[in-house]
Amino acid sequence: MSSVSIAAPERVGIDLGERSYSIVIGPGLIADAASYAELPAAATALVVTNTTVAPLYAQAVCGALAERFRSVRVLELPDGEAHKNWETLNLIFDALLGHGADRKTVLFALGGGVVGDMAGFAAACYMRGVPFVQVPTTLLAQVDSSVGGKTAINHPLGKNMVGAFYQPQLVLCDLDTLQTLPQREIAAGLAEIIKYGPIADMAFLDWIEANIDALVARDAPALAHAVRRSCEIKAAVVGQDEREAGLRAILNFGHTFGHAIESGLGYGEWLHGEAVGCGMVMAAHLSEKLGGVDAAFVRRLTALIERAGLPVRAPDLGAERYLSLMRVDKKSEAGEIRFVVIDRPGSAVMRPAPDALVREVLAECCA
Ligand code: NAD
Ligand code: GLY
Repeated sequence: MSSVSIAAPERVGIDLGERSYSIVIGPGLIADAASYAELPAAATALVVTNTTVAPLYAQAVCGALAERFRSVRVLELPDGEAHKNWETLNLIFDALLGHGADRKTVLFALGGGVVGDMAGFAAACYMRGVPFVQVPTTLLAQVDSSVGGKTAINHPLGKNMVGAFYQPQLVLCDLDTLQTLPQREIAAGLAEIIKYGPIADMAFLDWIEANIDALVARDAPALAHAVRRSCEIKAAVVGQDEREAGLRAILNFGHTFGHAIESGLGYGEWLHGEAVGCGMVMAAHLSEKLGGVDAAFVRRLTALIERAGLPVRAPDLGAERYLSLMRVDKKSEAGEIRFVVIDRPGSAVMRPAPDALVREVLAECCA
């Protein structure tokens, strides 16, 4: 596989005091994975990956890490959102204990957001916390899930309901890995990239619109810019509100509707990014009803999401089912659903919305 034409890796810092770390973005990073000063001193490493990613990248990662760690082992989890659960999480603890991993053992999460969220949660729990490094290999994971320290597994009653805030020591976004992704996964990642525009940076939204075809076609410089700018925005938000006391919730634009689609259809039926893309269309409709944006803005965002290759019509689960699924959302308080809405282009807030308005959105957006 050829490397992309980006001269040197770029770094985005995430400023969290003693938990600060770097996100390194560039081609060919896996080959140099052992070269980072941030890697903790340890004798052993466990690379947590899955059955799809392992044949592509595990050997290269292990080969690189062998320069630094005396023992490097690989654990292949079953692939898919449907496996983001206790049973799979336990496989990580089984491997750590089975290999005699100690408190300094470093976990490397090699894969997409599912692997990253589970390996991160395991790192948070094992011996009350061991260091971990994110090596995200999906677009979605490079622009969102590997950054910011949210780790979790799903519960049948709700998405990402059991987890911890636990920051990695380092994030290595090797852009070359994006070239082996299925096209549907590229679209899923584009949903989270598009998200940063309406909530934080309208100039970035303009840029995405101008470059959407290049992004869909995996143009390397376009992807590099999109990953870097997304990480900059996310790092700035998380740096101000690591544990989502308020501001960080804006990163969940589209997620309240999206999580309901994911759990309502059964995890894995729609990709997380697909559900978020469609959820943003629904949240934009709600934002219009609440006076934050006009109809032209809703049309513009919908058109961009569609051009990214994402669904813009929601599955018809029924309004009651949507409402009950959305009440399980982590942003709900005392049974009241709270939505992230755009209060003006480039700015988002979290607020409750009357059920009647939500029903109108569902009537407009469901297929
Ligand atoms: P994923 O982890 O399921 O990966 C998508 C698919 O691509 C999988 O089949 C995977 O095996 C495969 N894959 C990964 N890298 C590949 C590569 N380079 N080449 C070929 N195939 C590859 O899905 P995702 O979209 O990366 O992540 C979604 C998950 O992330 C959801 O569980 C979501 O809840 C979570 N998430 C977490 C956060 C957070 O802040 N922690 C943010 C957003 C999403
Ligand atoms: N993906 C939302 C967050 O990290 O807060």
